[in-house]
Amino acid sequence: MLPQFDDTSVTVAIVGCGGFIGSHLLDAILERTRWRVFGVDLDFYRVQHRLNHERCEFLCADLADPAVVERLAKFPLVVNLAAICTPSRYMAESCEVIRSNYDHPAALATACARSGAWLVHFSTSEIYGRTAPDSGELVEDSTPVLLGPVTASRWSYATAKLLAERFIAGLSGLKWTVVRPFNFVGPYMDFMPGVDGEGIPRVLANFSTALLRGEPLKLVNGGKAKRCFTSVHDAVDFLFALFAVGADPKRCGGVLSQAFNVGNPANELSIAELAGKMRSIFAKVRGVDVSTLPEPQVVSGEEYYGVGYDDSMRRLPSVVKADSLLGFKARIPLDVALEESLSWFVKHYDTGASS
Ligand code: UGA
Repeated sequence: MLPQFDDTSVTVAIVGCGGFIGSHLLDAILERTRWRVFGVDLDFYRVQHRLNHERCEFLCADLADPAVVERLAKFPLVVNLAAICTPSRYMAESCEVIRSNYDHPAALATACARSGAWLVHFSTSEIYGRTAPDSGELVEDSTPVLLGPVTASRWSYATAKLLAERFIAGLSGLKWTVVRPFNFVGPYMDFMPGVDGEGIPRVLANFSTALLRGEPLKLVNGGKAKRCFTSVHDAVDFLFALFAVGADPKRCGGVLSQAFNVGNPANELSIAELAGKMRSIFAKVRGVDVSTLPEPQVVSGEEYYGVGYDDSMRRLPSVVKADSLLGFKARIPLDVALEESLSWFVKHYDTGASS
C-alpha cells in the first residue's frame, strides 16, 4: 500500500524527472502532497525552479548504472518515465532505443521485484502497432498487436516497449502498473530543433517550430493518420487517481498488475486537421490573418524520417478501465490543450533564437 498524501516521511522516486511528463508530475507532487521526491535524469532544465526545493533531491544519472537502479528500488514508489521516445531516432538509433526502452526498464523492474517497491512504468500507445485507418478502440487486455516487419525499423521502439511490458508482467513478486500514454501535449513537450535539441521532435513541437519560423507545416504521407491528443494535466490527474487508489487499503490491490490506456478519445483528429487547428491558433495568438501563413506541404514518410519509417494510422484508446478502476476520465478539450501548448511554445522560444 502507498503512503497517504500528507505523510511527510515518504520519498518517492521519479526516473525521467527532468522530462516533459516528469516535470509536470514533480510540480504536482510538491503542490498536492507532502512527499519528498528523489528525481533522476540526465537533464534538469525543465525543473530549474525546483532545484533547491527542500523536499527534492536530484541525481544526474541514468538506468544504465546498476548502482542507480539499486538505489531507486529502495523507495516505496518508483515512477519510470525515462525513454528515448522521439520517432526520428527509432530508425537511425534502433539499438540505443531498444536499450533505453527494454534493457534499462527490465533492470529496474528486477530490482523492484527484489525490494518490494511499486513500479509505475510508462509504456506507450505505440505498442498497439501498425493500426489501420479503420481500427476501432484499442482495449488494454484484448486488442491484438500487429507490429511492422523488422525492415521497418520504426517499430524498434514499440517492440522494446512491448517486451518490457511482457517482462514486467511476467516477473514474479513485482508490484507493477503500466501506463500507455496517448500523445500527451503541453508546456515543455519535446524541443525546438537547432535550439535545445536536434532531429525531428513529435508533431506538436514540429508544427509549433514551423509556425514560429514561418515555414510550411509538413504533412507526412498527407497527414491522414489520426491521434487523440491528451493534455499533460489530464495525465498528471490520472497518476493522482492511481496514487489515491494505491493509498487505499481496500482498493490498492486492484491497480496492481494492470496496464492502463491514458488518453482522450474525444480529442481525436487527423494530422491534416491538426495542422489546420494549429495554424488558426497561431494566427489568433499572433493577431495575424491565417491566410498570411504558408500552406502545409505533403512529404513522404521515408523522405522526411528516413528509410524504415512506418506509421500507426489510428490510435483511439478505450478508457473504460481507468474509469471503472480509478474513476478517471480525461477532461481537457483539444482546443484548450493545443492553445496552451502552442502559446507556451511561442512564449518560450520566440526570443530571436528561433531563426
Ligand atoms: C510518438 C511516439 O513514438 C510514441 O511513443 C508516443 O507514445 C507518442 O508519440 C505520444 O506522444 O504519445 P506518434 O504518435 O507517431 O508517436 O508521434 P508523432 O511523431 O507526433 O507523429 C504523429 C503523426 O504526425 C504521425 O503520423 C507522423 O507521421 C505525423 N507527423 C509528424 C507529420 O505529419 N508531420 C510532422 O512534422 C511530424
